[in-house]
Formats: sequence, structure tokens, C-alpha cells
Amino acid sequence: MTTSEIISETENETKKKQLYIKTYGCQMNVYDSNRMSDILLPLGFEMTEDLEKADMAIYNTCHIREKASEKLYSDLGRVRPHKVKRVARGEDMLIAVAGCTAQAEGAEVMRRAPYVDMVFGPQSYQELPEMVARAMRTKEKREDPLLRGAGVLNVDFPENPKFDTLPEMTNVEGASAFLSIQEGCDKFCHFCVVPYTRGAEYSRPVKDVLKDAKRLIELGVKEVTLLGQNVNAYHGESPDSASKEWGLGRLIQEIAEFDAFEIIRYITSHPRDVTQDLIDAHKDVKKLSPYLHLPVQSGSNRILKAMNRKHDRDFYFKLIDQFREARPDIAFSSDFIVGFPGEDERDHKETLDLIRRVNYAQAYSFKYSRRPGTPAWASEQQVDEGVKGERLAELQALLDEQKMAFNQKCVGQEMDVLFERKARHEGQLSGRSPYMQSVYVQANPRLINTVVPVRIIGCGNNSLTGEVVVLDN
Ligand code: 5AD
Ligand code: SF4
Repeated sequence: MTTSEIISETENETKKKQLYIKTYGCQMNVYDSNRMSDILLPLGFEMTEDLEKADMAIYNTCHIREKASEKLYSDLGRVRPHKVKRVARGEDMLIAVAGCTAQAEGAEVMRRAPYVDMVFGPQSYQELPEMVARAMRTKEKREDPLLRGAGVLNVDFPENPKFDTLPEMTNVEGASAFLSIQEGCDKFCHFCVVPYTRGAEYSRPVKDVLKDAKRLIELGVKEVTLLGQNVNAYHGESPDSASKEWGLGRLIQEIAEFDAFEIIRYITSHPRDVTQDLIDAHKDVKKLSPYLHLPVQSGSNRILKAMNRKHDRDFYFKLIDQFREARPDIAFSSDFIVGFPGEDERDHKETLDLIRRVNYAQAYSFKYSRRPGTPAWASEQQVDEGVKGERLAELQALLDEQKMAFNQKCVGQEMDVLFERKARHEGQLSGRSPYMQSVYVQANPRLINTVVPVRIIGCGNNSLTGEVVVLDN
């Protein structure tokens, strides 16, 4: 069956096929899942959150830590009975595994869960229509439609970037959206699977990014988050003759020219790729959120070197100072790994010291997880799990303290909040502060999907409360 046959067949049906997508992991996956639905909805699917009703279920997976990968197998165990039930009723179900675990261990996924029909990586989902057609063709011929999946495996890195063939974005919820500008990574930190699962660093041409930006505006987007694995490594082909390439700082200046965007963010950055242009953007572009996720991973020079991070702690401190000078109200977040092979008590203390010196608004922290295929996997200096647990608890207690202090400092301040939805409490809306805190405010539901000045009047560990400064009329 060809794609157009699927389309014409599904158009004739009154009932649309139900598509369930579960997304694990990072924002890149959230973006990819949205794009997969952009591809599939025009082929006669509609979204469902009810797995039982799903004609097709896609698991868009993460491979960054062992736990993330294991989640997939427990979810696959859970979907199997649904497929059994459907097959017994004479219906069928397509089960697809996408994302980084698919890329890293696609054949293993099919072996462990033979009822999976399709496995494809983050760089090949633009071929979904062909893959669905192929899976359906195979299924028609199969004697046992349950135990043997359709066997579609696509973990290629295509010659042309997937962005060239993806359809126009249509699936945007609310007024906040991701815009992918860069993918993959050439940094090869010794703990990380990303360079292997997502592939080499690639920056989209500026003109393509601007085209997507305009599309997001048509869809009512007011907050845009420029997205990339290593977003400030961005070096997209220039749209003019003045230069060959633009960096992230220049791109942000251009995106800020669109009046419709009221808030601009970007994620995730690498300290090594911070340029003066980017620091200047924080000074010059008021719409650029005064919040920066700048992962450092460790505060020990010895461990940073062993991690192949390509920067030391002083380099990081200097950047923090430069950003603070450019934008005094800026706040920072980071990622930390505890128990990287060879980390001792002194290294750990240096990480705690770095945290005290920087003073974070919030941060993510993880126990080091051995990932097959990465250089650190083979190290003989693995740290005991119990020790990792103790260090993580100590580090998280400090980060929690800093988060609470930061939240308290917000009380009394006025900040722009993008309201996203009705909150659980009657009459309350919830939104996001510039610092990504949840903010709860008594406000008119008409303010959902708008950016409103809010005075912060209270705080908890994980959220703020506030009141609208300018009443709607
Ligand atoms: N173990 C633990 N944490 C990891 N990260 C990446 N690889 C690993 C690993 N093997 C963390 C890093 C990175 C974040 C996305 O995940 O802190 O910044
Ligand atoms: Fe992974 Fe390091 Fe690349 Fe970030 S910079 S994606 S941690 S290899």
C-alpha cells in the first residue's frame, strides 16, 4: 500500500484511527513527538490519550540513563495485553518504538518485544508514512499477527536532514512552542550517548528557522524556545551575503524582531560554545528570558577533564559573571552528575563548592549511569552505588535550599507570566514565570495563552503564587 492509498482509504472511513504517543526524556523528544503527529494526523489519525483505544501506539524513547531505557520495556510489557485483546477482536494494533533507545538498541527491542511492529530512530521518523505502509503490508501477509511484529527497522542517518521533508508544523498546544534549530552533538562527553543516538551536529539554515518562526506565529505562539542538543553551537547558513553563518546570538536578535513573540528562550547550552554575541543578546534583547540552563556536570577540574567537558571551573565562573553583568536579573540552572568514574570525596566537595559560588535557581542532578558504547562505561574506577546515593542526597539538599531561597527572593517582584491553563483550584490559572517556576494566580480564564504582569505574593518549594498587576478589562 502506498502513502496515498493509506490516505484515500482512511479518508473514506468515517472513523479516524486513534494514535497514542508516549514521550520520554528531553524537549527534543517532545518536539519530535509533535512532528510525528504532524505527519500522521493528515493520514487519517487522531490523537488519543487512552492506550486501550489506540490503533497505533508510539513510544518515543530516551536512552540517556539506564532507568530511562528500562521504562520502555516495562511499558511495552503493559501494551502487549492491549494488542492481544485487539487481535482477538479481529482488530489490530501497530506498536512503534521511536527515539534514542530505538536508535541505540533497535534490534534488541525487537528481540525482547517481538510484538513491536516498527522501530525507528530520531533521524528517520520523517519516513513514517512509508514505514506505516510497509508495516501494514507485512501484517496482511502474516500468519501470526501478534507474536511477530511487522519487522520494520529504520535506524539510518539519512543523507538529507529530516527537516527538509517534514510537513509544516500544525500541532501546537497553547501559546508556547519549541522550534528546533540544531540537532546532534560533536562534543563526545565521556558519559553521554547523544552523539551516537542523535548523530553529528547539524544546524538548520537561518531561512528555514525563520520560516518555522512565522508559522508558529500563525498558530498563535507567543513564547518560542529555540531548541538544540547543543543549541549554542548553532551556526546556521546565513540568509544574507554579509556573513556565511549566523550564531545563536545573531539568530536571537532576528527572532526578537517578530513582535508576536513576547518571550524567547533557548535550551540546552554548553559552556564551551558561549560567544560574546550570545552574552550581548542577553543585554540587548529584553524578550530573551533572564534564565539560562548552563550544564556544568561537575565542579572538579579533574573530573571535568575525565568527562571530556573541554572547560574547567574557572572558565564556567567567568561565564556566569559575564552573563550576570549583561543581565543582572539572570538566574541559572544546571545539570550535575555525581559518581562519575574516579570521583572521590574531594571532587564531590568541589562540586558542592561550585554550587555555593554560582547559587542556582534550580538544577537537575543524576547518579552517573553506565552507558554501553561510551568511553566512561569501560572505566575500572566505577563509584559504589551507595556512595553515589549519599553524594546525590547531599547535593540535592543544597540545590533545594538554593531553590527555596530563590523562590523567596521572587516574592514582592513583578514578573511577566504566560498563563497556560486553569489550575485545580476554582478560579485559579497556572502559568510560568521567566524562571520557569509554576505560578498560580486568581485570574480570568480569558487570560489563558497571554503574557500578563503578575506580582508574586507567596512561594512554596516548587511554585509561586501571585496576583495580576493590570486587571483585564
Ligand atoms: N549518567 C547520568 N547522567 C547523564 N547525563 C547524560 N549522560 C548521563 C549518564 N550516563 C545527564 C547530563 C546531561 C543530562 C541531559 O543528562 O547531566 O546534561
Ligand atoms: Fe551529551 Fe556532552 Fe553533547 Fe551534552 S555536550 S549532548 S552532555 S555529549
